Amino acid sequence: MPTSCNPNVIAANPLKINETSCLENVLHVNRGIRVANRPKAAIMRKRILITGGAGFIGSHLADELLTRGYNVRVFDNLCSQVHGNESKWPTYLHRDVERVAGDVQNADAIARAVKGVDAVFHFAAMVGVGQSMYEIRKYTAANNLGTATLMETLVEHPVERLVIASSMSIYGEGAYRRRSGEMAVAFERNLDQLRRAQWELCGPDGQELVPIPTPENKPPSLASVYALSKYDQETMCLMLGAAYDIPTVALRFFNVYGPRQALSNPYTGVLAIFASRLLNGKPPLIFEDGRQRRDFVSVYDVVQACRFALEKREAVGQVFNVGSGAHYTISEIAERIGRVLGKESIRPEITNRYRRGDIRHCFADIRKARQSLGYAPRVSLEEGLIEIAAWVEGQVAYDRVEQAAAELSARGLTV
Ligand SMILES: NC(=O)c1ccc[n+]([C@@H]2O[C@H](COP(=O)([O-])OP(=O)(O)OC[C@H]3O[C@@H](n4cnc5c(N)ncnc54)[C@H](O)[C@@H]3O)[C@@H](O)[C@H]2O)c1
Repeated sequence: MPTSCNPNVIAANPLKINETSCLENVLHVNRGIRVANRPKAAIMRKRILITGGAGFIGSHLADELLTRGYNVRVFDNLCSQVHGNESKWPTYLHRDVERVAGDVQNADAIARAVKGVDAVFHFAAMVGVGQSMYEIRKYTAANNLGTATLMETLVEHPVERLVIASSMSIYGEGAYRRRSGEMAVAFERNLDQLRRAQWELCGPDGQELVPIPTPENKPPSLASVYALSKYDQETMCLMLGAAYDIPTVALRFFNVYGPRQALSNPYTGVLAIFASRLLNGKPPLIFEDGRQRRDFVSVYDVVQACRFALEKREAVGQVFNVGSGAHYTISEIAERIGRVLGKESIRPEITNRYRRGDIRHCFADIRKARQSLGYAPRVSLEEGLIEIAAWVEGQVAYDRVEQAAAELSARGLTV
């Protein structure tokens, strides 16, 4: 029997008491009485905390959870790189969201945020591969120490579910096979070959390797401080979750895109960065030759995966890739966003330069999430791009890409 207390949601809500769902969305004050017969006052909805919930993915997750009948509290420091210098709560944040301002490194603030919650999504993080290579303390403080602070609080006040936002970046290079079909041992590109603009990975015999979908069991290969921090976050959460009986799930997001992604943040969100350049009449800047492949997943699919991670018993103690299962070259993405924005006359600029920490190909093998969680991406790239185009109309985008590229170059982080 469905347990949602929102009657409009009952038909769509897969939660079933004592079946596959673990986190039921209502606390039954008097168990055994059917929810439908229960007076409203006897039902207390579950309260979910989203750290970093004022950001792009967190705010969409808040919408999804509210629709599903949960209470949602958001904890966020409204960092200026994402929310602008005034650091205000974003207008897109649903009005029913309970807001707690604070930093994840502040134990008192976190303790206030965690009070009375049943589950936590830990999304608060500094997000940017290139920037993490020189803002080392900032990334380590927000991501590693922030997670440690949250975990100390959760050890004292355990929750029914913790979901940590991890990242594809922990894989470094994705999985590859040889042309003969055997799996290739993970190789990295060396600087010599990159200086010669030889971008593809080769095996020891010099033959080009073929990229294949990357499964969760590919060993991590950490190529940036950001990747290191995401691996630290997921490992710390899973390890302490097991030790203290806090059911924990790690989701490795691939390239997430959609409305609300910060258009003026030059460090993260390649689609938003390209859109921002085009809106300012400038060409998208593409590193290497543009033929590197990535998996672009709609934020609406990502929040479905997040809800499954919250509700499904099978998810506990596991890591899951969250991607679309499809892959595109970066050049194709730049051209397609140009077309939907009506800016096809602005041709992307291929820089033929390499950014330290970048990888050649990585796209998701999503079979595990499909099989264990019932995750099934529904938004095609075509639909997703049209939606972005509709959203960016009327948005103000400050283009800071050249400044960000200059920061990397000044530190010798581009080749
Ligand atoms: N967007 C992607 O493609 C992607 C891919 C892989 C993983 N992720 C992960 O998903 C999570 C959400 O990413 P997003 O794209 O929504 O990013 P975002 O930058 O839009 O949101 C992050 C939020 O965290 C807040 N924040 C930052 N530092 C904080 C701190 N010290 N204390 C409290 N709040 C803080 C920011 O103000 C922001 O609102 C992050 O953990 C990120 O590493 C994102």
